[in-house]
Amino acid sequence: MARMIALVPAAGTGSRFGAPSPKQYLQLNGKPLMWHTLATLAAVPAIDEVAVVISPQDEWFDDFAWALPKLSVHRVGGASRADSVAAGLAALACADDDWVLVHDAARCCLSVAAAERLIATLADHPVGGLLALPVPDTVKRADGDGRVSATVPRNGLWLAQTPQMFRAGTLVRALDGGGADITDEASAIERLGLKPQLVEGDAQNFKVTYPRDLALARAILAARDAQ
Ligand code: C5P
Repeated sequence: MARMIALVPAAGTGSRFGAPSPKQYLQLNGKPLMWHTLATLAAVPAIDEVAVVISPQDEWFDDFAWALPKLSVHRVGGASRADSVAAGLAALACADDDWVLVHDAARCCLSVAAAERLIATLADHPVGGLLALPVPDTVKRADGDGRVSATVPRNGLWLAQTPQMFRAGTLVRALDGGGADITDEASAIERLGLKPQLVEGDAQNFKVTYPRDLALARAILAARDAQ
């Protein structure tokens, strides 16, 4: 039977965040930010393994007792997100028809329910797909001076989130050749001429990118703990 593997690329340096350690290791409600991400994935019954990809130069991972079921660690991260995912897939030696859910380490407020919705929707899908949100706001295009040069119709526009769920064999083929311009797995799949399915996510599954995002992540996780 096909396995279901969550693959978490966590070899980024978080340069936009500007902290001394990468953002995935910042303390959030008493644990590293990425612990919350990995714990949610491990709590999804359909997921067999949670594989985290860190940099070979990582100095932080071993400082914490992660104590999570299903966890495997691969010190094979590369220069870009796509390289890290491709190296993780190679290290895992998946069967072609295994499902892989690639999830950003910094989306620490993913809910078990959203991951299960993705898995249930795509169980028999020929391509796979991703959590995403329809764009709720009016969208502006800026010129070089930060002025509005156009209003872009938002109809049909979605914001891509993760997990992004594809068959391992397809993903390996899609990521072959890599490229820093591949900012998510779905865009690599699209390059093969395939059409990933959009599955509605939720706003809580945002990516912690700037220091100002931490307060919101803290509040969401604390509210869940209190339930
Ligand atoms: O930089 P960004 O937030 O888009 O990164 C998305 C995810 O990819 C993060 O979890 C980050 O750690 C990971 N990444 C990686 N290897 C890189 C760059 C980013 O695993 N070289």
